[in-house]
Amino acid sequence: MRGIGFYFFAAGVISVTLGMLWGIQMAISGDHTLHGAHAHLNLVGWVTMGLFGIYYTLTPAAAATRLAKLHLALAVAGLVVMVPGIAIAVQNGGDQMVAAGSLLTAASMLVFLYTVFKNGLGRTA
Ligand code: HEM
Ligand code: HEM
Repeated sequence: MRGIGFYFFAAGVISVTLGMLWGIQMAISGDHTLHGAHAHLNLVGWVTMGLFGIYYTLTPAAAATRLAKLHLALAVAGLVVMVPGIAIAVQNGGDQMVAAGSLLTAASMLVFLYTVFKNGLGRTA
């Protein structure tokens, strides 16, 4: 069984791989309409998830909790709802999906805020 840090990092590296391919597609096509969705796939997907992954790897006491699993579920759900939601919203398809994804993403960060202040950085037990 791999640790929670691995799963956050895996979500991050999958996001940035897709995000880069999307960026290349935008650059080649010259159509940058969806740049905001590309940006947040990379920034919420890779930068933020990667930082979560590093934190949990450095802080085993936090990684061992059920709250860390809830955090992962909320963060991944937020990303996969928010990024297509941005693409839909910028094409005037409605805001509901991006709103739901943003709230899930913000909820995941509230879980992390609590986790960081409860466990600090580097706590092993
Ligand atoms: C192969 C890699 C990548 C390519 C080819 C690429 C390509 C692009 C393109 C064509 C745009 C639209 C630019 C515009 O319309 O102004 C863009 C925007 C953006 N990209 Fe990427 N990108 C790549 C990787 C990344 C990564 C790794 C990140 C973040 C970690 C990132 C963050 C952003 C952001 C924040 C914007 C929006 C900037 C703005 O609002 O002007 N990109 N990218
Ligand atoms: C719940 C989470 C988030 C929400 C609701 C959100 C919302 C937004 C909105 C509404 C914009 C303006 C888009 C536009 O004018 O086209 C924006 C732009 C931007 N955000 Fe976020 N954001 C979130 C998370 C983040 C995070 C975590 C990062 C960085 C790690 C980030 C970096 C940026 C950047 C660099 C831009 C400017 C690039 C662009 O125009 O696409 N955002 N964000």
